[in-house]
Amino acid sequence: MTKKAILDLDTGIDDALALAYALGSPELEVIGVTCTYGNVLLDTGAANNLALLELFGAPDVPVYLGEPHALMRDGFEVLDISAFIHGANGIGEVALEKARAEAREGGVDFLIDSVREHGDDLVIIATGPLTNIAAAAAKDAAFADNAHIVIMGGALTVPGNVSPWAEANINQDPDAANNVFRAAADVTMIGLDVTLQTLLTSRHTAQWRELGTPAAIALADMTDYYIKAYETTAPHLGGCGLHDPLAVGVAVDPSLVTLLPINLKVDVEGETRGRTIGDEVRLNDPVRTARAAVAVDVDRFLSEFMTRVGRVAANN
Ligand code: RIB
Ligand code: CA
Repeated sequence: MTKKAILDLDTGIDDALALAYALGSPELEVIGVTCTYGNVLLDTGAANNLALLELFGAPDVPVYLGEPHALMRDGFEVLDISAFIHGANGIGEVALEKARAEAREGGVDFLIDSVREHGDDLVIIATGPLTNIAAAAAKDAAFADNAHIVIMGGALTVPGNVSPWAEANINQDPDAANNVFRAAADVTMIGLDVTLQTLLTSRHTAQWRELGTPAAIALADMTDYYIKAYETTAPHLGGCGLHDPLAVGVAVDPSLVTLLPINLKVDVEGETRGRTIGDEVRLNDPVRTARAAVAVDVDRFLSEFMTRVGRVAANN
């Protein structure tokens, strides 16, 4: 059966790959994209989402604007490291044609209304800061109770990637992420524990380049930019981390990872601000509201990734 999906993105090269993975997955029907700030400003991310949806042959998928900055802040500036990894335009300086469609207001309400309408038939895949998801949970208790949420974010068994404690998406808005872990009834956390095991190299992107379509060339160009950035920031890995696509992969097929049932929280004070860790207060609570991925079938995921993104690349 097809599952409806909303992607909450801060697009971002790996967000773009996540979008392609979702559109190339017959098990998912993407009913909307909500935009968040993070790798880029909110409006830049929205423009990227609109242009990518056109490029990937899905121009009718609606794009909604979400929150422009973190819960406890009154503005947002792109971090230098984000611009280095994703490029100033978020998609590796690849110049895409401006989309004909425009972004709509009301991303948070779209999330709330979609959960009310589709219930268990809907999965929300959040691959940026959790500000929109926290805003939806704060506005509507039914959203927190009923939404099925898969996030890319956090690090449970490995250090963070922006500090020894914090992963980038959680670090952008630790308060929002903490609220989500405490309020939401069903969160699957796809963190650095597993995403840094799923690596793509220029041997993979060369396969897209050979397809020669506009989508394939754009995907290859932006991903090569991302791979190059990883050669500087994490040369020991030998490729770029497929963070956001793995969250989509797990939404399609949870058996790609091993999930640990756990009640999670985020440290919001002191030097460990942004750390994802088990909530000691709910340690003995038999109800576990989250599952954290702690192992991944790398070969099977990479094969799924190449098939599904390759489908979008070949046909557009
Ligand atoms: O830590 C990796 C995450 O940070 C990914 O979602 C990437 O797109 C960046 O936002
Ligand atoms: Ca992202």
